[in-house]
Amino acid sequence: MTQDEMKKNAAWAALEYIPRHTVVGVGTGSTVNHFIDALASIKTEIKGAVSSSEQSTIRLKALGIAVLDLNDIDSFSVYVDGADEINAQKHMIKGGGAALTREKIVAAVAEKFICIVDSTKQVEVLGKFPLPVEVIPMAASHVARQLSKLGGKPVLRQGVTTDNGNVILDVHQLAITDPLQLEQQINNIVGVVCNGIFAQRGADMVLVGAASGTQVIR
Ligand code: A5P
Repeated sequence: MTQDEMKKNAAWAALEYIPRHTVVGVGTGSTVNHFIDALASIKTEIKGAVSSSEQSTIRLKALGIAVLDLNDIDSFSVYVDGADEINAQKHMIKGGGAALTREKIVAAVAEKFICIVDSTKQVEVLGKFPLPVEVIPMAASHVARQLSKLGGKPVLRQGVTTDNGNVILDVHQLAITDPLQLEQQINNIVGVVCNGIFAQRGADMVLVGAASGTQVIR
């Protein structure tokens, strides 16, 4: 089974956990693209979606799923998104697709975060995947210097501007043994908009697609 087939299995398994007649929060990425396809199969049974990126919005609309403004919604039940890495505490690194800030915002409003991944994303310690940090462009060099002081090797992601008009620094060589603490510490650097550690708001449930089937971790 290919990695993409494992992603697809996890994504379609999420349908079982989507409450009907409600708004659904939708993340970003190749795993979520499968989830959007799955969501289209029940589009008449949901009120619509809140999207975490322009990319997902385009796909949702193309499949006839209404995209709602987060500011018009007080709360909703379930947010479904992928991850670049996830540990046993359901803390994640996200942002490989540069959508981390909107993902964190939509996830914050959701009652429940369901993470859909293939089994290659499971790790003991976060940080092998370079940590994405969204930064105000004029602060990029300042933030890079501060991230270096934390032991990382920040690299500007070339040719990428986020949906919010910012840049991404990918921080290599971090062993993230205390995700909660590092998430806060990086947020405190002036010029940082958001970082890709999702620990304060981790996942509530993980669906892991593997060759042997989809595992549910609660
Ligand atoms: C998007 O910015 C990311 O947070 C994605 O959720 C993450 O990169 C997972 O992407 P794939 O599903 O494409 O592996």
